[in-house]
Amino acid sequence: MFRLRPGRSTTLTALRRKATVSGTWLEGEMKLDTNFVHAAVTPEPKSGAILTPLFLSTTFIQESVEKYLDKGYSYSRTNNPTVTVLEQKLAKLENGYGACAFGTGMAATTSAISATMQAGDHCVISDCSYGGTNRSCREFFTPMGMEFTFVDFRDPENVKKAMKPNTKLVFSETPANPVLSLTDIEAVSKIAKDAGAKHVVDATFATPVICRPLDWGADMVIQSLTKYYEGHNIMTGGAVISKDQALHEKVKWARSL
Ligand SMILES: Cc1ncc(COP(=O)(O)O)c(C=O)c1O
Repeated sequence: MFRLRPGRSTTLTALRRKATVSGTWLEGEMKLDTNFVHAAVTPEPKSGAILTPLFLSTTFIQESVEKYLDKGYSYSRTNNPTVTVLEQKLAKLENGYGACAFGTGMAATTSAISATMQAGDHCVISDCSYGGTNRSCREFFTPMGMEFTFVDFRDPENVKKAMKPNTKLVFSETPANPVLSLTDIEAVSKIAKDAGAKHVVDATFATPVICRPLDWGADMVIQSLTKYYEGHNIMTGGAVISKDQALHEKVKWARSL
């Protein structure tokens, strides 16, 4: 379940003594299945509650104008302590710099596009993707002046041929809804990178158990948390996990406005 750092003679008793705060109670990197449970989860300092509390407050009191945001929270659309834990866990599971959580997968998708494209910009996108995704490109973003080329992503050469000087985004979905066609994430990431474009991968159907696109060169991952992440048919959710701080800040800004 865990590995001690090589060369360290830490005893189990010493580890047990440290077993007070999640993330410090075992040394070394946790494996994925342990991280699903433990990543980012820390006992709540006031009560010691082990289960992350649901902070339902929309707004957070500030000690003073000078100490504005000292505790990190002001308004829940921008930051909320419960959502922060989810975001830190998502970033850990996907090997990203940071994650932005949304109320739905489509909110995550439209925010990833809004954060990386403007009128006049071009995107190469899979011709097989979730209906809401291609509808948002054809019927929502195209009338705003953005351009989309739909190609078969099963062959990376199709992506390469569709690239233009104004291509800012390459949008993969793998395995794609509904026919489960696959994209070579590493090859497509290289094509995007060589052209100075960002590569976003909707990896909802894979989940990080099967595929972590950031490890293969992608810049952003989209998850409809409504699906396997949630797993019980009781809530909707979405997330954009970014590889670097600059992209993460752009997505956060698109959510906060
Ligand atoms: C692959 C994929 N991406 C995105 C979405 C959109 O997610 P949501 O329904 O949470 O808005 C879906 C929904 O079915 C999906 O299957």
